[in-house]
Amino acid sequence: MAKEIISVTVKVGKVDLAKVKTDLLAVGVFSDAKKLGRDATELDKKLNGAISKVGELGDFKAKVDTCALLYGDDAAVRVLVVGLGEKKKATVQTARNAAVMAASKAVELKAKKAVLAIHAGIKGGAANIGKAVAEGVYYGSYRYDEFITKTEDGRAESLTVTIADPGDKGMAKAVKAGVIVGKAQCFTRTLANRPGNVINPPTLAAAAKKMAGQTPGLSCSIFDEKQLKAKKMGGILAVGSGSANKPRLIVLKYAPKGASKRPVIGLVGKAITFDSGGISIKASKGMEDMKLDMSGGAAVMGAMKAIAEIKPKVTVYGIIPSAENLPGPTSYRPGDIVTTYSGKTVEVQNTDAEGRMILCDAIAYAVECKCDEIVDIATLTGSCKVALGSYKAGLMGNDDGLVKALQKASKASGECVWHMPSGDEYRDEMKSKIADLKNIGSDWGGACTAAAFLREFADKTKWAHIDMASVDVFEGNKAKNGAVGATGFGVRLMTEYVCGRK
Ligand code: BES
Ligand code: MN
Ligand code: ZN
Repeated sequence: MAKEIISVTVKVGKVDLAKVKTDLLAVGVFSDAKKLGRDATELDKKLNGAISKVGELGDFKAKVDTCALLYGDDAAVRVLVVGLGEKKKATVQTARNAAVMAASKAVELKAKKAVLAIHAGIKGGAANIGKAVAEGVYYGSYRYDEFITKTEDGRAESLTVTIADPGDKGMAKAVKAGVIVGKAQCFTRTLANRPGNVINPPTLAAAAKKMAGQTPGLSCSIFDEKQLKAKKMGGILAVGSGSANKPRLIVLKYAPKGASKRPVIGLVGKAITFDSGGISIKASKGMEDMKLDMSGGAAVMGAMKAIAEIKPKVTVYGIIPSAENLPGPTSYRPGDIVTTYSGKTVEVQNTDAEGRMILCDAIAYAVECKCDEIVDIATLTGSCKVALGSYKAGLMGNDDGLVKALQKASKASGECVWHMPSGDEYRDEMKSKIADLKNIGSDWGGACTAAAFLREFADKTKWAHIDMASVDVFEGNKAKNGAVGATGFGVRLMTEYVCGRK
């Protein structure tokens, strides 16, 4: 099949900026620094003051998200000065973003070797910064071009990045963790970016099996249509009934030796491999983006891969219901009453509100697996996007402690969430006159009513919900460095949450 996505290697090492041989040397500069750091000063001298010159001329003000490309000499062929903004405002996230920019430029310039000296002087702890920089390298160098056949002017096939380490304690170990998470996020982005004619429920399940087979400590079981019928998972079956690509439930499990008994964590991810809306069909404009409606499931797959490699002492389930939502002679229809896995009945008023129909079965299954904390992630509602724009995902939950843990993980991972309500008033909108629940609420607060619907299936278990419909794809102001396609949102957030939980 398609060719491989770019292969990236990250190392940590002591680097003499004035001597290092590389295709691209990235140097971080604060906008309010009176003078360059010691290493950069040496380099500047060697380049006849080229770095200080771009600053003096006013061509480069070292603001965040800006950079300037200079041409070096036989050692460092190109020097990229990367803006870090004001020193006192710089955080771990600043370092991650600078790495994203440098790595993206490295790929754009077809560099095979890059050196990153961007984090010196940023506060947040060497370990946190090292991890973030490694994650940023993978994030920024990622390209989805497996179906581009032309090779002229193509990118380099591999990139080796050395993170210049001034000898900070814990850096090398942290970079290792960052590499794991960074690679897992690329894995997720590729799955999400693959089109609906390539990724459907059976092929997604096969990808999960393959990934688990290559990841020691991870097991994977798949429920096919027959097993879903035997288990009476009515929600997943209803949504999947309109497609020839039959639905699946993917269950990944990480249960390391010596794991603490509690909590058992359940990560649940929506994986609609294509959402046409079904009988309540969507408008055609932008419908192609609905191949990304499996982004939550792909994020859970990536997070499970990263977790199994980082090896925290906690048991985690990755539960991914997958279906294709298409209209056809066998589709579920508006008006149908579906008996879900929990036993609760749902009146379908809109077949395009399908995410909650598959998630409710998966959440009920997570409860049955005795998960103590359930976190679901889904491209669930356009309303969430209306509410938050494309910068933050919605976060709802029935437990303050769990919500706080996710907010903390969000801060560390740089994947932003915003707490939104999902209380009883929203739940009451979801009551049906002819079934226990219906699958849509009123015209308003759609992200909150959708969450309140899901909350019913978590029962008394601690539960949180991440509506990532706002952040699944690069678009608008968020599309920095020319990034397109799936963001891989959730991999860093969920991995951080789980690894911080043990
Ligand atoms: N997958 C969509 C939500 C979505 C919209 C994700 C835009 C990403 C970008 C979801 O299945 C959906 O169609 N939701 C409906 C719910 C409505 C029918 C209650 C929506 O948001 O319009
Ligand atoms: Mn839909
Ligand atoms: Zn959907």
